[in-house]
Amino acid sequence: MIRDGTARENHQLQPIMGYGLKDSGFPMETLQQTRTPFYYYDMDVLRKTLDEINRLTADDFCTVHYAVKANGNPQIIREIKEHGLGVDLVSGGEIEAALKAGIPASMMNFSGVGKADWEISLGLSHDIGCFNVESVPELLAINEIAGEMEKQANVAIRVNPDIDAHTHKYITTGTTDNKFGIDIEVLDQVVKQAMELENINLHGLHFHIGSQITQMRPFEMLCDRINNLLDRFDDKGIHFESINVGGGLGIDYEHPDEHPLPDLERYFGTFKRMLRLRPGQQLHFELGRAIVGGCGSLICRVLYVKESRNKRFVIVDAGMNDLIRPALYEARHRIQNLTSRHEQTDVYDVVGPVCESSDVFAHDCQLLVTQRGDLIAIRSAGAYGESMASTYNMRSLPGSLCHETM
Ligand code: LLP
Repeated sequence: MIRDGTARENHQLQPIMGYGLKDSGFPMETLQQTRTPFYYYDMDVLRKTLDEINRLTADDFCTVHYAVKANGNPQIIREIKEHGLGVDLVSGGEIEAALKAGIPASMMNFSGVGKADWEISLGLSHDIGCFNVESVPELLAINEIAGEMEKQANVAIRVNPDIDAHTHKYITTGTTDNKFGIDIEVLDQVVKQAMELENINLHGLHFHIGSQITQMRPFEMLCDRINNLLDRFDDKGIHFESINVGGGLGIDYEHPDEHPLPDLERYFGTFKRMLRLRPGQQLHFELGRAIVGGCGSLICRVLYVKESRNKRFVIVDAGMNDLIRPALYEARHRIQNLTSRHEQTDVYDVVGPVCESSDVFAHDCQLLVTQRGDLIAIRSAGAYGESMASTYNMRSLPGSLCHETM
């Protein structure tokens, strides 16, 4: 199914046909007929990832929530629903999208440091599974609004565990320098306060240490931290129904074909081996990138190949407004020329049309010899690609195409 970007719904698709097709694993004819730039989602890869999650968690040792912020495409959320996962949400808009997809409200967690009153009311009116609370003022606001609505809010306190996940500074979230969670030093006090509030049902503790984490060491440190905290609360006679360890598992941006799926077995295995949960305690995960990152590519077309004194630029029709990760986090995505008629490669800077010098997808990138009209795939763009797109420079939002063979 093709979903065109909102701003260009009335435009005709204008295919450029006739270039040689390489055996790329992409449905080339369909790609050729779709107006660029657009996000291409390989739904078979998404389903394999979700099946693997369900296989690894079939013993019910946990509930996996999909972090919708990674990609809110309605077809993707529907697939999540069909595989029975819960969702992690960060705005009223995401709550509405999840409700529309038919996700049961009891499977929804609502995270984020700045929940607006209307968003809290929306969550309460649907009796969502849990509010992950990040500060005392937020806790008090939820209690007050729940009181007015004669509701009980299920709450988990987000703890800032002060663990450096050694990922990019803009996507680390578990150290005391950033805005997330409640400092471990004042946690006992906040837990006590939450237990005393009339319209708060304190469910558990919530953690999230960062994103694109590919080593298990930070997750092991998180397990140690949680084990120590649970011991500490045992001594006080406090028992939590649920422990939410967040998300953060990274994907292999360098080798998307060799590793289309993340190392889910090692990831879940780490928590299974290391966490000492109490009897009856439920474990929750909130994975975004690991679920959708590998299934998506941004497909764009070469507008011009421009030679300058020391560089050769491939100028494509997608820009930083379509995929901001390289400009914002210095992220590197594999780039592939899908239609080159050449066997040999050359070195290019791949850039977009936006009027910013950071509108660069890759520096010194080796591509099959490239020319105007070639189709380019920017790989591993399923997470934080479409969901972070903007209309900067009054450009249209990118369209999307979900492709399935099975
Ligand atoms: N839970 C919470 C509370 C989060 O803040 C996040 C992501 C997740 C779960 C899901 O994390 P994941 O499994 O996807 O790593 N835009 C950045 C990533 C920002 C992540 C924000 N929080 C990027 O493109 O790399």
